[in-house]
Amino acid sequence: MRVLLVGGGGRECALGRAITRHGHELLFGSLNPGLSRFGEYVPGEPEEVAHSHDVGLVVVGPEAPLAAGLVDRLTARGIPAFGPSAAAARLESSKIYTKSLAVRHRLPTARSQVLTRSDRTLPTEPWVVKMDGLAAGKGVWVPDTLAEMHAAVEAAFALQPDGSVLIEERLVGPELSVLGLSDGERVVMLPPARDHKRRFDGDLGPNTGGMGAVAPVAVPSGALVQCHDVLRRAVAGMAAEGCPFRGVLYGGFMLTADGPRLLEFNVRFGDPECQPLMALWDEDPVPWFLGAAQGRLPGERLLVRDAHACCVVVCGEGYPEGREEARIESLPDERADLLVDHAGTTLRDDGLWATGGRVLGITGVAAAPHLARSLAYQAAGEVSFRGASWRMDIGR
Ligand code: AMP
Ligand code: GLY
Repeated sequence: MRVLLVGGGGRECALGRAITRHGHELLFGSLNPGLSRFGEYVPGEPEEVAHSHDVGLVVVGPEAPLAAGLVDRLTARGIPAFGPSAAAARLESSKIYTKSLAVRHRLPTARSQVLTRSDRTLPTEPWVVKMDGLAAGKGVWVPDTLAEMHAAVEAAFALQPDGSVLIEERLVGPELSVLGLSDGERVVMLPPARDHKRRFDGDLGPNTGGMGAVAPVAVPSGALVQCHDVLRRAVAGMAAEGCPFRGVLYGGFMLTADGPRLLEFNVRFGDPECQPLMALWDEDPVPWFLGAAQGRLPGERLLVRDAHACCVVVCGEGYPEGREEARIESLPDERADLLVDHAGTTLRDDGLWATGGRVLGITGVAAAPHLARSLAYQAAGEVSFRGASWRMDIGR
């Protein structure tokens, strides 16, 4: 089948590899030298490209086009598209919508309160502050003091002058990313994954898009069952409310002493969680993506390798603040057990350049977690450009 992929980061590189590994033809609309290995760059509006190139399925990687209704527009033209409608994408584009869904369907989550411009009554403990809308990972503050909470509320209102702000009780515990494919009714789970969001080792420094991820993660089976139950009940709740969710639903959980608590939903694959998950997913993903889009998943379980994957993100100097460019002097070669996804690179006359931010994701796959880690770290050590850096504790 001819598949059009929307998006051009590390996540889409991993999706492009998985799609073409099974013989499908790939078109993509965002320049990414990593994706060029797998298909053909065809710029243009996805609706037009899909129509003129006889595309059988559009796979949408990032959240912004989903929230902007790309899947609705494609569906209206009879083009199957993997991802939720704009209405269902509110699970990511509005934290207040998600919180109200969680309350209506009794999904376990932190106690919360909505602040408006005129009503800003704050709790006497520092709660977590969240902008309502999409913020590319920059709309959440976890203050340690009341003064920091006040400053965060001001910052959140400043970033979205017409919006509301959600505040919620601060929870503690390890985090877990649980993703499931849904056709609006059924949910088929992927292995549990873990992202490392803070910039520096030991979970220090600012939040980033994600500095590395591993899958599967050892979790007490009771807790995993509860996370799966939250995803299933959310999908059932959306269907009951006339807003079926089709695509991949990503639940971000905190495993607290009282059990898992939902922190957020995303309506797409995580980046970088997608990289280890795609490395473990053995079968052809296209029938699953198409089945989700068309309201009938082709099975009840995914076939995943009995292996472990670890993705280490190599970022540029100053990330997440600056965007320093640098010529890439060397890169590890991709092999069956070592995958190199490009997230911030560009090809110029004098070679491959790092354009800043998250530049590469290097994923090792092996029979044990420590072996996957050492493959990824050994290969990260072969990356050379000025300012290249990465966390040393991914998967520890
Ligand atoms: P979110 O985008 O809602 O997942 O928030 C981003 C990050 O902020 C999460 O991955 C957590 O590390 C942290 N966070 C969010 N909500 C809470 C909470 N209620 N308690 C503690 N940390 C939180
Ligand atoms: N890795 C976190 C995210 O994709 O939102």
